[in-house]
Amino acid sequence: MAVPVVPSETEVYEPPAGLAAGCSLPNYEEVYQRSIADPEGFWAEVAKELQWFEPWKQVLDWQYPFAKWFAGAKCNIVQNALDRHLATWRRNKAALLWEGEPGDTRSYTYFQLAREVSRFANVLKSMGVRKGDRVTIYLPRIPEQVIGMLACAKIGAIHSVVYGGFSHEALRTRIQDSEARVLITADGGHYNGKVVQLKEIADQAVAHAPSVEVVIVVRRAGAQVNMEPARDVWYHELMSLPIASAECPTERLDADDPLFMLYTSGTTGQPKGILHVHGGYMVGVAATTKWVFDIRDEDTYWCTADAGWVTGHSYIVYGPLINGATVLMYEGAPTAPRPDRWWGLVERYGVTVLYTTPTAIRGLMRFGQSWVNRRDLSSLRLLGTVGEPINPEAWRWYYNNVGRKRCPIMDTWWQTETGMIMISPVPSTRLKPGSATRPLPGVVADVVDEHGKPVPADHDGFLVIKRPWPAMLRTLYKDPERYRENYWEKIPGVYTAGDSARKDKDGDIWVIGRIDDVLKVSGYRLGTAEVESALVSHAAVSEAAAIGKPHDLKGNAIKVFVVLKSGYQGTDKLKDDLRVHVGKELGPIARPDEIDFVNSLPKTRSGKIMRRLLRARELGLPEGDTSTLED
Ligand code: WTA
Repeated sequence: MAVPVVPSETEVYEPPAGLAAGCSLPNYEEVYQRSIADPEGFWAEVAKELQWFEPWKQVLDWQYPFAKWFAGAKCNIVQNALDRHLATWRRNKAALLWEGEPGDTRSYTYFQLAREVSRFANVLKSMGVRKGDRVTIYLPRIPEQVIGMLACAKIGAIHSVVYGGFSHEALRTRIQDSEARVLITADGGHYNGKVVQLKEIADQAVAHAPSVEVVIVVRRAGAQVNMEPARDVWYHELMSLPIASAECPTERLDADDPLFMLYTSGTTGQPKGILHVHGGYMVGVAATTKWVFDIRDEDTYWCTADAGWVTGHSYIVYGPLINGATVLMYEGAPTAPRPDRWWGLVERYGVTVLYTTPTAIRGLMRFGQSWVNRRDLSSLRLLGTVGEPINPEAWRWYYNNVGRKRCPIMDTWWQTETGMIMISPVPSTRLKPGSATRPLPGVVADVVDEHGKPVPADHDGFLVIKRPWPAMLRTLYKDPERYRENYWEKIPGVYTAGDSARKDKDGDIWVIGRIDDVLKVSGYRLGTAEVESALVSHAAVSEAAAIGKPHDLKGNAIKVFVVLKSGYQGTDKLKDDLRVHVGKELGPIARPDEIDFVNSLPKTRSGKIMRRLLRARELGLPEGDTSTLED
């Protein structure tokens, strides 16, 4: 379902010698073997590099398929992300450098960031937010996104960040499912020369989400917004009150206490609340940030993701801050006002490590290399990519033009569920464009058939993880049964990722793409069922089916087949209406690229839409087994 990856096992890139020798994992093979011989001993060693209020009694309490990592320990991820740096020279080191799309800037040292987090944590406490309460964060890419997350974590509240590009329906269902008491939003954000009206969307969502008692509004865009007197308060006003004091102890939590939930698309219309906990997640993201990105104190590290996605949680906020990095964050679009905005940021901030997506690379590639060449990118040392398979053409462009043939590319495979990078090169790895190469230390990954038996080299199979890992999801929020079924029962005994993959003769892994009804559109994860339910909520639509089609830029384009209610005509005007409707319901990323009006949809006798068949027909592929097809 992804951009076809043409494995070219002969095209290999040796790591730059100096970089490989001096990186945090120069001897991958040796460390990997040791980690697999005794995974729990290995992870305990890794965990000892972090601070804990009280040590664990057991490294892993594994009650299949539920894992309690570092059982009995007391900790808080904020103790490691902020507090412990304050006792070192890093106190006055830049933690966060931020640039808005209009060009305004802000920066925070570790001391300043920790202070803002404490102040906001006190604000939340004064509103009655307690350990275990849910707080929804719906913000543009501004520092308050990070401050809000860390403030929740500090007091043991559970944050649920919703991507600022989602619309009111998506926001509403996420708030309702989590029963959040507080929503943090803004008067708008700058994106692509426009102001995104987040508050308006938040108002529509909250109108049907009665759990929300307070809406905290950050002033960002200066836009005129409606403030409900009994419900809405300005962030800056709260922060100027005496309750917003800088003294706030970091809560001593159980390693197993929830840190955040993040909704992600699955096979049903209802997004799943992936739940992560403090202890294991903290260890997983700390270690993988160090191994993969080889973070050093003099680095300027930039991950272009939005904190609304897991990549932002693990590799903008928690992983880099635990490692004491200087993190760059940029609010806007890569091409605003011109296609060299990103390269200008790299030049002006001296970015050394850049982590982005294949979709962004393909998008910027379109404008040609002159936009890259006019900027000085000599500060870069390491590149990264995530979110979907990277096609070798985009890989080479990134390598040659952005990295100027000096910077290895870390093609990192992981998921919202895994919490941390699982399969990826490290700077000492020999690279193959399009391959995520090998599992990281402590991770046992394999490619197997439906019975769990490893498939021969160069054959497609299911990507699975064979042992628990520290940053693994704890469960699905309020739905442990679905957690078990979804991930641990498809192939008994192992974690099924939902991706197909292939291992080559050298043991390098090539991820092919999703095998379930999940689409990766521009690297964003969307369920076909979500697109379909958005469509059927339109007055004219009786039934709908959505499929992915390979697309040069987006990886996948969304094609939908729509059955209209009687009395409606399938006009071009209606197509436009439906596109706008889906954009409003779900968000602009979910807008269908192609709409076909049809009289009926192929279904199984039990009434399930056969998307596989629609897709095969659309792409001219073999139809496969159609014996369950209804007449
Ligand atoms: C896909 C994003 C190939 C995969 C961190 C996975 C990738 C899904 C890669 C998870 C990669 C992510 N190569 N495919 N390097 N990274 N994927 O939860 O299909 O938004 O299952 O997490 O993205 O998407 P999610």
